[in-house]
Amino acid sequence: MATRKRSETSTFDLFAGGETGTATAAAPAVLPPATAQNAPAAGVPAAPTRRGKGGARGGSERGAGAAGQRRASGSAEEQAKKQREISISEFFTKNRHLLGFDNPSKALLTTIKEAVDNSLDACEEAGILPAIRVEVVPVAEERFRIAVEDNGPGIVRAQIPRIFGKLLYGSKFHTLKQSRGQQGIGISAAGMYGQLTTGKPVRITSRTAPKAAAHRFEVRINTQKNEPIITLDEVVDWESPHGTRVEIELAAVHKRGRRSVDDYLALTAVANPHLELSYRDPGGEEFHYPRVTEALPHEAQAIKPHPYGVELGILMSMLEATKSRSLHGFLQEEFSRVGAKVADEIVERAMLRPQAKPGSLGRDQAEQLLHGIAGTKIMAPPTNCLSPIGAVELEAGLRKVVAAEFFTAVSRRPAVYRGNPFLVEAALAWGVAGMPADELAVLNRYANRVPLQYQQGACAITKSVIAAGWKNYGLAQAKGALPTGPLAISVHIASAWVPFTSESKEAVASYPEILREIRLALQDCGRQLGQHIRRGKRLAEARQKSDYIKSYIPHIGEALREILGLSEARERLVVERLSDTLERSRKV
Ligand SMILES: Nc1ncnc2c1ncn2[C@@H]1O[C@H](COP(=O)(O)OP(=O)(O)OP(=O)(O)O)[C@@H](O)[C@H]1O
Ligand SMILES: [Mg+2]
Repeated sequence: MATRKRSETSTFDLFAGGETGTATAAAPAVLPPATAQNAPAAGVPAAPTRRGKGGARGGSERGAGAAGQRRASGSAEEQAKKQREISISEFFTKNRHLLGFDNPSKALLTTIKEAVDNSLDACEEAGILPAIRVEVVPVAEERFRIAVEDNGPGIVRAQIPRIFGKLLYGSKFHTLKQSRGQQGIGISAAGMYGQLTTGKPVRITSRTAPKAAAHRFEVRINTQKNEPIITLDEVVDWESPHGTRVEIELAAVHKRGRRSVDDYLALTAVANPHLELSYRDPGGEEFHYPRVTEALPHEAQAIKPHPYGVELGILMSMLEATKSRSLHGFLQEEFSRVGAKVADEIVERAMLRPQAKPGSLGRDQAEQLLHGIAGTKIMAPPTNCLSPIGAVELEAGLRKVVAAEFFTAVSRRPAVYRGNPFLVEAALAWGVAGMPADELAVLNRYANRVPLQYQQGACAITKSVIAAGWKNYGLAQAKGALPTGPLAISVHIASAWVPFTSESKEAVASYPEILREIRLALQDCGRQLGQHIRRGKRLAEARQKSDYIKSYIPHIGEALREILGLSEARERLVVERLSDTLERSRKV
């Protein structure tokens, strides 16, 4: 548990009252009922449900307006003047909710999360045990300056402006292995949000080695061009031998409790036992999460895509882009688990020539190739691209932060969705201190060791938890809801590519293979919990019975004394022996 220098409250209020509403909030996929917005106004006929021939075009057969005139401003030429490329930064400035910046308290969490995720990824990739410092300093009402500093490998000077001042720029998108970052948007989007709400640039200090100079940059984004603008570039004195410090000023709100920054950092410590984390909250309070293990997670290896997951369009562009000169070579070089023999079989089934030039194949041949792949038995993808937490570590992490009467955890074998390897881990804590027995269980979701705080109802993890059938394990569960009871559920999905439902990486998409694996992991844990609960019930019943019998023992002693004329000492002895026998029979 974190040690605090000042008062001891909140953070793990986490297990008192979860995000109860969202689990049940998943609305059925039906058309919305008529509302004030979509219902026809009084006196206006409802839109016809079916159009007769030409009916949609009204009076004029060419689709002119009511007066038979086309609007000059809407001509193809006029519209052509307005048609132009949209920069990715402009797009996300308008759609910042897609990146997790839809309200001020979420914006604070997202900003810190993006920086911490990057720090953890960078340290692990470099084989450095991460030590991360997070600071949130209030600078005005609803305005904070955040700083995230790591002891990672640092960033090469020339790359700093692009990493922080250009969306869709990163090192992980094209690599198929488990990492927290995927998209190359995270930290530049956080900087862009800061710039948008405060006008301030992102400040970065970084050093790659003790002997190298430390560089400080201030970077803004030119949102029209999606290009960095450097406003400061200097060499500075910095005490860190290597690492990166990112500072962003932003409009935000700091909350406590569930889904807060404090909560995210505590959960991050659970999922990353090798992390040394310190945090200064906006009130100046210091938190410290010590490292629990000195062992770095097993290093995930990058893999090539598996042929079973490839789609036609992707296959066509791969055929065009490859450096291989023959189809036979292409299959072996671009995919995992394809050796010479498997490549022969695919090409034969596809009825193509092994020596055919990949770039010369058209759409039809690519489709044939896809059929060839589908008809060939190919080994499942390698799973060394994954780095699970491990059942023992997951349970230990949970024990660190929760006081409960029973714990269990499971780490399943890897499986595959759309050609991407993934695996699921789950842990349960039952009889959690301070959790009421009549409230919904608390669910903690993780993807690639990152706690997921929002969109619980839309997440495959929640759906699988609901579908796990908790009544079988002695728990109450209302239809379509999480189980009820003093239960904390943790589920972790680790994948070379986590299929998030949006760029803000808050919920996992419901692929059937993923739903199934999560359900199986939970059922495994559920069975252990069921046994514990049944054992507990049996013991409670036996205790109740023996307490009942015990209340009669003194009367039996009295009656025996009267009937058999026993002395008081003999009566005491009889009562003692009977109580003793009862106690022993209960233990049996
Ligand atoms: N603290 C850091 N230390 C070293 N490299 C970093 C650090 N922060 C970012 N980077 C580099 O900058 C790149 C871009 O980061 P960014 O967060 O924008 O994208 P990402 O992490 O690749 O993907 P995502 O958008 O999913 O977070 C990373 O891929 C990484 O190579
Ligand atoms: Mg990132």
